[in-house]
Amino acid sequence: MWNFPLLPDQASTHATQVDRLGIALLGLSLMFAIPVCFLIVFFSIKYRRGSPADRSNPPNNILVLEWAWMILPLILALGIFTWAALLFFDLSRPPANALNIDVVAKQWMWKVQHAEGRAEINELHVPIGRPIKLTMTSQDVIHDFSVPAFRVKHDVLPNRYTTLWFQPTKTGTFHLFCMEYCGTDHSIMGGDVVVMSATDFEQWLNMGTLNASEAAAGQRLFRQYGCSGCHGPSAAVHAPSLAGLYGKSVPLSDGSFVLADAQYIHDSIYLPNKQIAAGYPAIMPSFKGQLSEDQVLQLVEYIKSLANSDTMGQQP
Ligand code: CUA
Repeated sequence: MWNFPLLPDQASTHATQVDRLGIALLGLSLMFAIPVCFLIVFFSIKYRRGSPADRSNPPNNILVLEWAWMILPLILALGIFTWAALLFFDLSRPPANALNIDVVAKQWMWKVQHAEGRAEINELHVPIGRPIKLTMTSQDVIHDFSVPAFRVKHDVLPNRYTTLWFQPTKTGTFHLFCMEYCGTDHSIMGGDVVVMSATDFEQWLNMGTLNASEAAAGQRLFRQYGCSGCHGPSAAVHAPSLAGLYGKSVPLSDGSFVLADAQYIHDSIYLPNKQIAAGYPAIMPSFKGQLSEDQVLQLVEYIKSLANSDTMGQQP
């Protein structure tokens, strides 16, 4: 059977929008390329050697034509730019109600952590019809998370959180690729995204060995690595309290402010001297090498879960 589709499945809300832009660009290129090809052939026949065509080259200066070929392409180019930029903005701004899933890339696999506790490798299960936001980072080199059927891709960088969002519109299994050359086994660093109905997804989340939720796992690490010794409510050491921290603006010792987002928490754990909270001594040790990126993401989830509580150390 003939099965060689020109484009992958359109399985997310972005897919049709991105395809429309692609087809418009293709159409526009053809609009200019076809007349050029046609004229090349036409003129080479008309002005071939020995033909009786008129070669007198009379002077002509059509001002309207000259203005038109400057203004029209300008309008077309700016139109395409605006269209693509709007699409790009939409792709870079996950909706506030999106379901967050953490992704850690390492040579050569994708590790996925769901907030409820399920973890998976080289697979990503998501519910249909709901915006999904991926918070991604790399344990080693630069990778790139890409799902062609959703028309989304984004670099995954060490020491930085990047996000990507999509809303699946079709159930089924779709290919997931690493799109950045990352070493020997780059070509097999991929997997499947499985889009399920909302009820199937709920069931799937509660299947198999049940891990603690990410926040609960983070809370355990918080005790295990002695974070609570300084940041806990009854700690002897003077360290900033983390309750209600997430999403707030934090004053720093150099007089500037920083938003306490996932990146700030990540950096405070790995590079504690990068941003010192105002009024506190720079005594926190770095946990780089002791905590893996997935563990840092669990701590981030734990600190997020403290956002609305005044009491530290209680069950999230
Ligand atoms: Cu990871 Cu290529």
